Amino acid sequence: MVTGSENWNLAIFRDSHAASEAAADVVSTAIQSTPDAALAFPTGSTPLRMFDILAARAARGDIDLSSATVFCLDEYVGVTVEDPNSLTRWLKEGVLDRIGVKSDRLHTLPVTAEDLVAAAAEYESAIAAGGGLDLAILGLGPNGHIGYNEPGSSAESRTRVIALTPESRSQASGYWEGAVPIPDLAMTMGVGTLLEAKQIVLLVVGEAKANMLRRTLEDPMSAEVPASWLRRAGSRLTVIVDEAAASSLSVMDPDGPQHPVTGGDGRDRSF
Ligand code: GLP
Repeated sequence: MVTGSENWNLAIFRDSHAASEAAADVVSTAIQSTPDAALAFPTGSTPLRMFDILAARAARGDIDLSSATVFCLDEYVGVTVEDPNSLTRWLKEGVLDRIGVKSDRLHTLPVTAEDLVAAAAEYESAIAAGGGLDLAILGLGPNGHIGYNEPGSSAESRTRVIALTPESRSQASGYWEGAVPIPDLAMTMGVGTLLEAKQIVLLVVGEAKANMLRRTLEDPMSAEVPASWLRRAGSRLTVIVDEAAASSLSVMDPDGPQHPVTGGDGRDRSF
C-alpha cells in the first residue's frame, strides 16, 4: 500500500497511446525549458510509441533535441555498436537519429573497457560533471528491473556490471528477429544514479505488467523489486500508466484504499 508520506505522482490514461503521449509531453516540456538537458531513455517495446510521437514532433520542428545529451541506461558487456544485439545501436539508429539527438552527444556505456569497474566509475563522473540527469524515462522489466538493475539491486547501487537473470535474457532475445545471442552480463546505470535525476518517469503499459506494477507501487520498497526504490524520489517521480497496467492497483478498486492520482486523461476518479 502507498503510505501517506509518499508523494510521487501517478497518472493513469485510458490506453497506451494516451500514456505514451503524456510521457512524450514530459520530454517535450523538459527540452523546451532546458534545451541542453541530460536525458536517459529506456530500450524495449514500451517506449516505442513515445519515441514515434517525439520523432513526429521533431520532424514538425515542435521540439529540438540537437543540444540535448543522452546517457545510455544499459548495454551488454563486450557488445559494440556494430553488433546486432547492441542496445546502444538500437537506441541510436531506431530512436536518437529520428528525434534529432546528435551522435557526439550520446554517452555510451564503456562495456568493452579493460577495467570495467574503473570505466563504470568514469561514466558516473561524466553524468555528474554535466550536473546530473535532468530527466530519466524508464520502463519496468517483467521482473521489476529498471535499466538492468535486476532483483537484488540496492537503492544505492551505481553504474556497474550485473549478471542478467535468465528471465531478462529470454525477454531480451525477443527484441531481435532471428537468433541473436544475449550476453550473461550487462552494464547498467545504478538505482542510486537514477534516483538522483531531477525528474523520473516510469512508463508502464499493458496488462502483462499489472502485477509487477502493483508490487512496485504498493508493496514495501525492496531490492526484490528494484523499481520500487523509485518511490524514494518522491515528487520527482511520475508513474505514467495505461488502465491495463493499472488494473491491479488498489486505486482502481472503488472500495479500496484512497490514493491521490494526479494527471491522467481527466476522467473522474473519486478515490
Ligand atoms: C529491458 C530493458 C529496460 C526496459 C525493460 C522493459 O530489458 N533493460 O530498460 O525498460 O526491459 O522492457 P519492455 O518495455 O520491452 O517490456
